Amino acid sequence: MAATSLDQVVSLCKRRGFIFPGSEIYGGLANTWDYGPLGVELKNRVKRDWWRTFVHKRADIVGLDASILMNPKVWEASGHVGSFADPMVDCKECNERFRGDHLLEEKIGTEAAAVLTLTQVQPMLMAEKIPCPSCGKCNWTEAKQFNLMFKTHQGVVEDEAALVYLRPETAQGIFVNFKNVLSTERPHLPFGIAQIGKAFRNEITPGNFTFRTREFEQMEIEYFMEPGKEAAAFEEWKQLVWNWYQSLGIDKDRLRIREHDKDELSHYSSRTIDIEYQFPWGWGELFGLANRGDFDLSQHQKFSKEDLQYTDPDDPKKKFLPHVIEPSFGCDRTVLTFLLEAYTEEELENGDVRTVMKFDPRLAPMDVAILPLSRKEPLIAKAQEIHRMILDQTNLVTDFDVTGSIGKRYRRQDEIGTPQCITIDFGTIGEDDKQGAKDTVTIRDRDTLEQKRVPIGELIAALAS
Ligand code: GAP
Repeated sequence: MAATSLDQVVSLCKRRGFIFPGSEIYGGLANTWDYGPLGVELKNRVKRDWWRTFVHKRADIVGLDASILMNPKVWEASGHVGSFADPMVDCKECNERFRGDHLLEEKIGTEAAAVLTLTQVQPMLMAEKIPCPSCGKCNWTEAKQFNLMFKTHQGVVEDEAALVYLRPETAQGIFVNFKNVLSTERPHLPFGIAQIGKAFRNEITPGNFTFRTREFEQMEIEYFMEPGKEAAAFEEWKQLVWNWYQSLGIDKDRLRIREHDKDELSHYSSRTIDIEYQFPWGWGELFGLANRGDFDLSQHQKFSKEDLQYTDPDDPKKKFLPHVIEPSFGCDRTVLTFLLEAYTEEELENGDVRTVMKFDPRLAPMDVAILPLSRKEPLIAKAQEIHRMILDQTNLVTDFDVTGSIGKRYRRQDEIGTPQCITIDFGTIGEDDKQGAKDTVTIRDRDTLEQKRVPIGELIAALAS
């Protein structure tokens, strides 16, 4: 099961400390979100699994962590200064601004809206009688291109010479370090460079919680190869990414692939597909795969005047600019997808409804909760001893909860998706053999609700199985 409305997940995220509205005590800052104690664990686990799968488990991919601020020439070379823009329209009645193509999506469909030219947007809004979401009137200005890059100034003088941009994609940090990686790693083609990091876009209409924000994280790979090998690599990456999302619990019925129409392609791409997820408000892009050819390397070679060619190790006379396939994941959208997918409401035999986040155990923010049955001193001491043993002997992330009835504590752990709870009772300390044998504890499974009694000496092995 998955969430049927975004509100279910937004409310759980706030209530349980996954995601908070940004700058909340000052009344917030529109569309900014802060990851709380559980959210940061979930997000780190998504990033860790991604890094393990696409970097550590492969001999052909290395990592990188480049600066957010880069020489402004990077963005001239990459085409972002000239072309990274969305069509913006103003409502003539209330002066609110919107992304024209987005306003049309519901009426004419995402694909048709994505291929509209700038001059088609306003006439189409008028013809389709699209009302302003703010005041309800239909009176639109001509669409204008709005560049999405955030600008700031480096140093103490705020003039044109000091202008820098916050990077709108992590990819360019990879391209500008291509030569450094070649000379230090001496990789053979095909090989990839991976990076996780923040990107910034001054989106005209952000929204849907963390789906579209102005500050977000990307997980990107630039996979370099000999020209002519792109078609096979494209198919291979499509499958790898499709499998990765499913291996971590996304139902394939809520995933689909959307091929970009020729008119919709970004300035750098000759082919792009998106993997889309069926969000509660409709299908939305989760991941993009693009064939960037040698666009970026040849642009950077031209603008920097550095030789960025790869030399064939078997034939040093053979020098060329590799072509690149780019798998680009939105980290926040991926986290949001795992949250929506995990959200489950289950009716219990007694008629109660339990909310349970059925995260894949590799992603759950807490691995295990330690729950002494009561606050009585000998139970707490034993529970702390067991807690210390788990911390010393494993890398598991643990929660220790003594507040409220055991039933309520189980519900609280279900709601944050903790796969296993360990209960320490009077049997454990040898004071009530009806509860269980001395030196044994109960392990309760989040999904099956099964409870099994385990000797403390076998607990570590039982948690790992
Ligand atoms: N380097 C290629 C690139 O940046 P993109 O399709 O613009 O391609 C890649 O972005 C991914 O980044 C998207 O599939 C999406 O998951 C994520 N993303 C893009 N804009 C975003 C935003 N405003 N908020 C959150 N995630 C975003």
